[in-house]
Amino acid sequence: MRILLTGAGGQLATDLAKTLSQEELIPLSHAQLDIVDTTQVKAAVKTAQPDVVINTAAFHRVDDCETEVGRAIAVNAHGVRNLALACQQTGAALLHLSTDHVFGGSKAQPYSEEDIPRPVNIYGVSKLLGEVMIRHILDRSYIVRSSGLFGVAGASGKGGNFVRTMLRLAGEGGPIQVVNDQCFSPTSTADLASKIAWLITTTNYGIWHITNAGEASWYDFAAKIFQLANLRPNLSPTTTADFGAKARRPSYSVLDHGRLRALGVDNLPPWEDALSRYLTQIEVVSPV
Ligand SMILES: NC(=O)c1ccc[n+]([C@@H]2O[C@H](COP(=O)([O-])OP(=O)(O)OC[C@H]3O[C@@H](n4cnc5c(N)ncnc54)[C@H](OP(=O)(O)O)[C@@H]3O)[C@@H](O)[C@H]2O)c1
Repeated sequence: MRILLTGAGGQLATDLAKTLSQEELIPLSHAQLDIVDTTQVKAAVKTAQPDVVINTAAFHRVDDCETEVGRAIAVNAHGVRNLALACQQTGAALLHLSTDHVFGGSKAQPYSEEDIPRPVNIYGVSKLLGEVMIRHILDRSYIVRSSGLFGVAGASGKGGNFVRTMLRLAGEGGPIQVVNDQCFSPTSTADLASKIAWLITTTNYGIWHITNAGEASWYDFAAKIFQLANLRPNLSPTTTADFGAKARRPSYSVLDHGRLRALGVDNLPPWEDALSRYLTQIEVVSPV
């Protein structure tokens, strides 16, 4: 299969490139392809003639999206539209990464693929717009929503991921306060990449929820990182209100895997297991 991969310098794209190494992969980094540039996108897809385009490119610094609204919409909606149009012209399918932030959190139980999105921040709005663009333009598309990604490459767009940030803060020795009232499913990019590799071999188009199993608050996630890494920093829980981030966040954004379950393939490991493998991989924990 010929696959064009955008945002190829990022953490999910790095694991996708590893997982899909047997395929005819055309990885394009931000420097090689800016998805906002309509002409560049058209030319890249026309030249590559892929069977599938996988789009991991995004502007996803959630707080910065609140002030850089134009950039959020440009990358996460207009850029996605560019890719969808280019796929329509060449006949390629599009697999696009979306987010749990399309949901607002009022449901307080796992969100199904059919639940109506209601984002509470600009990032979520811009990603939802991207989803709408795709569904408006293309029949053959997969929209994969996930959450709380961690992978060996670290989120390049965020200057690292949460696990790396926690390990750095523990090394600095100061008090660490982490919110305990936002619940989601931490997810390994390696595990997500494996499921995406399977999905693109199918014709099961539409919206998919794919995360590691289980749920946690950011505080639970931090506590588990320190427990597995055998670190004892001065960690305490705080509330979203006291933390005072610029952007609102969903208080609950666990994603139900209804479609995976219906096909009997809802077998992603628990997030704690994925975290343990990740810490071994980045050599924070020695292999047993
Ligand atoms: N990280 C999470 O926790 C999370 C959770 C749920 C969903 N997602 C979604 O999953 C996808 C992958 O996330 P990730 O964690 O792998 O992010 P990442 O490591 O930041 O990778 C995203 C890549 O996109 C590139 N990029 C940014 N703007 C671009 C543009 N205009 N044209 C082309 N490339 C551009 C970035 O390059 P530069 O760094 O050079 O700008 C970066 O290499 C994103 O769509 C994100 O919305 C992420």
